[in-house]
Amino acid sequence: MRLKGNTCVIGLQWGDEAKGKIVDLLTEQSDVVVRYLGGSNAGHTVVAGGKTFKLHLIPSGIVHDRALCVIAGGVVLDPEVFEQELRGLEAAGIKVEGRLKVSQTAHVVFPYHKLEEQLKEDSLGRDKIGTTIRGIGPCYTDKASRTLAVRVADLFHGELIEQRVRSIVGYKNRLMLALYNSPGVREDEMVRKALAYAEILRPFVCDTTELLQDAMAEGKRLLFEGAQGTLLDIDHGTFPYVTSSNASACGVSAGSGVPAKAITTFVGVAKSYTTRVGAGPFPTEQDNDIGSRIRERGHEYGTTTGRPRRCGWFDAFATRYSVRLCGVDKVALMLLDVLSGFETLKVCTGYRVGGRPLRSFPTDGEVMKEVTAEYEELPGWPDEITDVRRFDKLPEAAQRYVRRLEELLGVPVVLVSVGPDREQTLFREDLI
Ligand code: IMP
Repeated sequence: MRLKGNTCVIGLQWGDEAKGKIVDLLTEQSDVVVRYLGGSNAGHTVVAGGKTFKLHLIPSGIVHDRALCVIAGGVVLDPEVFEQELRGLEAAGIKVEGRLKVSQTAHVVFPYHKLEEQLKEDSLGRDKIGTTIRGIGPCYTDKASRTLAVRVADLFHGELIEQRVRSIVGYKNRLMLALYNSPGVREDEMVRKALAYAEILRPFVCDTTELLQDAMAEGKRLLFEGAQGTLLDIDHGTFPYVTSSNASACGVSAGSGVPAKAITTFVGVAKSYTTRVGAGPFPTEQDNDIGSRIRERGHEYGTTTGRPRRCGWFDAFATRYSVRLCGVDKVALMLLDVLSGFETLKVCTGYRVGGRPLRSFPTDGEVMKEVTAEYEELPGWPDEITDVRRFDKLPEAAQRYVRRLEELLGVPVVLVSVGPDREQTLFREDLI
């Protein structure tokens, strides 16, 4: 089976949907794998050749021999994380040079972004967002403000970058002192780092927009690897408890420089239950034994921060919103094995506010705080299912659970995952 066109893999919940496994399956059939948003707030664990890699920035496709990997302009890139990942890959014998390209228009994350973020989050107390402190928000803030931004291309203009970094650091240090009584960062150190960043990135930098357009003109197949999830999208997610970029499918074109119409298939990835890290409304959360049980069985601890994830029932109301927003054609349903052993399972089919049902997913943050979930109950199944290799061999109740989710989402669930390995993937239809 070969890819028919260009595919995008999108998370349909609040991130951590196990997109990495799906990207990995599709990478084999792709010529180019593109990361187009976010930064080192994301985390993918990839197992290849018996080795485990934790990647935050470099597309996981790099562990396969074939695909060219691209970090496009919509990404905010921390060169220090990038370098660590490079070293880890090279130490494992993976040849990176010539197979990895970085956009000259990506924005650069500096240590002052992380410091600003930490100081701000600390100052917010109970109102904090619970970010990953990877400098993502402050770097995108600088991108939008323009005058304080540094793009990858800027790093290669020696004297200019020195002046620019000095002026940015001067401004930020004054701000950090005034707002948080913090001494900020050292100007000379930031200049030194900027020059070092140029050397780290030099072998990889190019105009990735042109590269992707040439690749398409040559009939190559592109795979766009989403990061975070639709409900964390800055415009369409549960604002303000979101990330700072368009984590839904709406961000693909802007983040990569590829026309929206070039993407032929959107594969949505959802867990069989729901998780969330950080603060913000989570109507189906089970802050009780049910949630703990899901967390332990699903190893629900953050890849990037190690934080325990909040866990709860599948929210079909929210996930259907994501499916429609992203124009998802097919859904991959992950971690079904985690739900084995529950007598009954609950699925959220709608929200109510003040006793009244909502017609649509709330985009007003204050309304979202007030909602209560309406549930439907389905029978669970006692047996472990990690050894099952065909959908029709799953316990009847598990099949029924998947079919009901499919009905509620309104798009086919083409794949069910019952474990991390490739063989633990039950295809109902072709993924693309
Ligand atoms: P930020 O992206 O670090 O600014 O964090 C904003 C919100 O998005 C926080 O609630 C984070 O926990 C969440 N977040 C960011 N990246 C991920 C991810 O890859 N998976 C899950 N949640 C994430």
